[in-house]
Amino acid sequence: VKVYIPMDSAAVAMGANELVAPIQKMALAQDISIEIIRNGSRGLLWLEPLVEIETPKGRMGYGPVTLEDLPGLFNAGWLSGHDHPLSQGITDDIPYLKNQERLTFKRVGIINPLSIQDYASHGGWQGLEKALTLNDEAIINTITKSGLRGRGGAAFPTGIKWNTVRQAQDQQKYIVANADEGDSGTFSDRILMEGDPFSLIEGMIIAGLAVNASKGYIYVRSEYPIAIETLQKAVDIATGHHYLGSNILGSGFSFELEVRKGAGAYICGEETALLESLEGKRGVIRYKPPLPAIKGFMGMPTVVNNVVSLATVPVILAQGADFYKNFGSGKSYGTLAFQLAGNIKRGGLVEKAFGVSLKELLYDYGGGSEDGLALKAVQVGGPLGAYLSEKEWDIPLDYEAYSQIGAMVGHGGIVAFSENTDMAEMAEYAMAFCAHESCGKCTPCRIGSKRGVETIVKIRQGIQTQENLALLEELCDTMIAGSLCALGGMAPYPVMSAVNKYPQDFRKEKVQL
Ligand code: NAI
Repeated sequence: VKVYIPMDSAAVAMGANELVAPIQKMALAQDISIEIIRNGSRGLLWLEPLVEIETPKGRMGYGPVTLEDLPGLFNAGWLSGHDHPLSQGITDDIPYLKNQERLTFKRVGIINPLSIQDYASHGGWQGLEKALTLNDEAIINTITKSGLRGRGGAAFPTGIKWNTVRQAQDQQKYIVANADEGDSGTFSDRILMEGDPFSLIEGMIIAGLAVNASKGYIYVRSEYPIAIETLQKAVDIATGHHYLGSNILGSGFSFELEVRKGAGAYICGEETALLESLEGKRGVIRYKPPLPAIKGFMGMPTVVNNVVSLATVPVILAQGADFYKNFGSGKSYGTLAFQLAGNIKRGGLVEKAFGVSLKELLYDYGGGSEDGLALKAVQVGGPLGAYLSEKEWDIPLDYEAYSQIGAMVGHGGIVAFSENTDMAEMAEYAMAFCAHESCGKCTPCRIGSKRGVETIVKIRQGIQTQENLALLEELCDTMIAGSLCALGGMAPYPVMSAVNKYPQDFRKEKVQL
C-alpha cells in the first residue's frame, strides 16, 4: 500500500515528520506492507498533515492527522481506504482541489518531488524536449504569444524580457530564479520548489536555451530550508541524468545550475539587491537603468524571473501558447496560484485562471473567516498591496482591473482580516515593515517610512488627527514619487487604502496636549 506523507514545510510544521515511523510500525504490527512516499503539499493547508492512502478508487485523504489519531485510523482500516472522521474522501474530488485549474502546479502533491521518473511520467521534460527542436527566437515567440507575465508581482511580459537578453551581444549570460519569496502571506514559490523542483529546473534550462545562457542560479531565502535541500538534491539528480551540465540530452547545449541561500532580507527579493547579494555584497538596490536584462549578474545580461514564471514555461512549451492563452481574462492570460492566508478558515493554494473574484476565493474556497466574524478587509499582493473593502470583492482578479482601482494582484497573496481588525494599526504596521526592511539607499524610503510610523502613531493617539492625516498623505506622495524601488514606492498603498477605506479607524478622540 502506498502512503503519502507530505514533506512540505506546512505539513512538517504540523507534525508530518513525526508520523512517519509510527505509521510504519503500526502497519507492520497489522502485517500490512506499506511504501511511504514523501510528497509535496496538495495546497489544502488547513488539512495538513494530509496523509493519503492509495486505493483502487484513487488516493484517499485523511487530515489533519496527529499522532493521537493513528490508533483510531488503523483500527478503522484506513490502509484499505475505510471511513474515519478524518476521512476527506478521494483527494482529487475535494471541491477546493477539483475546481482549480492546475497548470503550473499540476504535479505538486501528486508526485514524489525527487523522483525524476515520476516527473517524466507526469509530463515532465516535454517542454524542454520541444524547446530543443526550436531555435531561440521560436522559443521566445511561443512565450510571448502565450501572454505569460512575471508572476513575482510586476507582471512584466516574460517574452519581452527574454528577448532583451537574447539580443544582448555579450558572451556570458545568466538565468536567475528569484526564490526570495518575502511577501507575507505568500507561499506559492515554496510549495512549488518543495513539491515539484524539476519544473523550475526545466523552466530555467529552457530560458537558458532561449537567451543562450550557460549558467543559472536559484536564489532562495534562508527561511526555506526544506526548499533549499530539495532543490539541491534535484539539481544533483538532474545533473546525473544529463538534464544539466554539458551537452544536455546530446543537444550540444550546456547549462549549469547553482542553489544559493539568501540571508533573511526582504529587499533581496528586489532583483538588483538580489544580484548584489548573489555577487557576495550587501543587499542594496542598484539604480535602474541599466536593467538586469542588459547589465545584471557580474555586469552581464541576466534573466531574473520569479519561480512560478519559470516553472510555467515548460507547460507553455509542451502544450502550446494558445492552450495557455485560453485561460484568463482581459490582458491577464493563464493562471495564477492564489494563496489564501490570514483570518481564513481554509487557507491554502488555489491555482485559477485570472478573472476569478476575491469573493469566490474568500468564501467558496476559503470558507470565510477563521474566527467566525465578518470579513472586513483583504490585502492582495503582499505587504505592499492595497487593502480591499467588501464592495471591491467582486472585481475580477486581473492585473489591469486591479490597477484601475489602485490595487495590485502582485504575487497572488491574499490575506484576510475580520471585523475586529484596527486598520490604523495595519497602516502603522505597513510603514514599520518598510522602515525595518528598507535597504537605506534612498531617503524617501529610509527616512520617510520612519516619519510615517511616527505620524500614524500620533493619529492613532488622536493627536492633531486632521493635520497629521494631511501630513501622512503628503509623505506617501513623496515616497511613491521619490523612492528608488517598489519597497518605498509601494508601502504607501496599504497605508493610504486603509486611511481612505476605513476612515473611522483613524479618528480617535482628541487628546489634549
Ligand atoms: P518593475 O516593473 O520595475 O520590473 C519588472 C521586471 O521587468 C523587472 O525584472 C525588470 O528588470 C523587467 N523589465 C522592465 N522593463 C524591461 C524591458 N524594457 N526589457 C526587459 N526587462 C524589463 O518591477 P520590480 O520593481 O521588479 O517589481 C515590483 C513588484 O515586485 C511589485 O509590483 C510587487 O508585486 C512585487 N513584489 C513581490 C514580492 C514577492 O515576495 N514575490 C515581494 C515584494 C514585491
